Amino acid sequence: MRVIVADHPLIAHKLTYLRHKDTDSPTFRRLADELVTLLAYEATREVRTEPFDIETPVGPTTGIKLSTPKPLVVPILRAGLGMLEGMVRLLPTAEVGFLGMLRNEETLEAVTYANRLPDDLSGRQCYVIDPMLATGGTLAMSIRYLVDRGADDITAVTLLAAPEGIDALERELGGLHVPITLVTAAVDEKLNGQGYIVPGLGDAGDRLYG
Ligand code: PRP
Repeated sequence: MRVIVADHPLIAHKLTYLRHKDTDSPTFRRLADELVTLLAYEATREVRTEPFDIETPVGPTTGIKLSTPKPLVVPILRAGLGMLEGMVRLLPTAEVGFLGMLRNEETLEAVTYANRLPDDLSGRQCYVIDPMLATGGTLAMSIRYLVDRGADDITAVTLLAAPEGIDALERELGGLHVPITLVTAAVDEKLNGQGYIVPGLGDAGDRLYG
């Protein structure tokens, strides 16, 4: 798995205010949206394209356009919804599929409660979006699910990741023979005893949606 930590002063600045405990919900939503757009720029560096012949007012040239089938963006409900607008702003023609997953706060195991994805993902490039990679259970399960349906290139976009979660993804997904990339705004210090990222930003779902 390739891990890209987006290193940019604007990302660090916005992330600082996102983390701040006094940042209210509307501001948190706006900052998350802005951060995702910056991360999406990095995450789509290898989006699939094909040549496209056009005419400018001066003459012919060959540019590029996104390949068909278009990429699939998968927000993990509920907190991943807070990243959807920012992502599709850069990929307006992307298809969107939904996965509802909840972490059991006792066992820290992920449970799927909703699934609205195309059945056949053969040859699809997928972008999974979820603000937090904590133990890694949620992302590991969702990525495995997409690969089982045929997706052959996965990029996960998170705002924060814990080192323990990155290790778990490497361990759980190491046997999959598709390229997997993680793009994150930061890798934090550790997980605490309750499975929260430290210093983190608290519970992203609660801070987005109350
Ligand atoms: C959070 C977060 C991830 C998951 C990360 O969601 O948005 O989906 O926990 O934890 P993990 O890496 O240990 O699996 P949560 O379960 O709180 O649901 P919510 O988005 O509905 O708030």
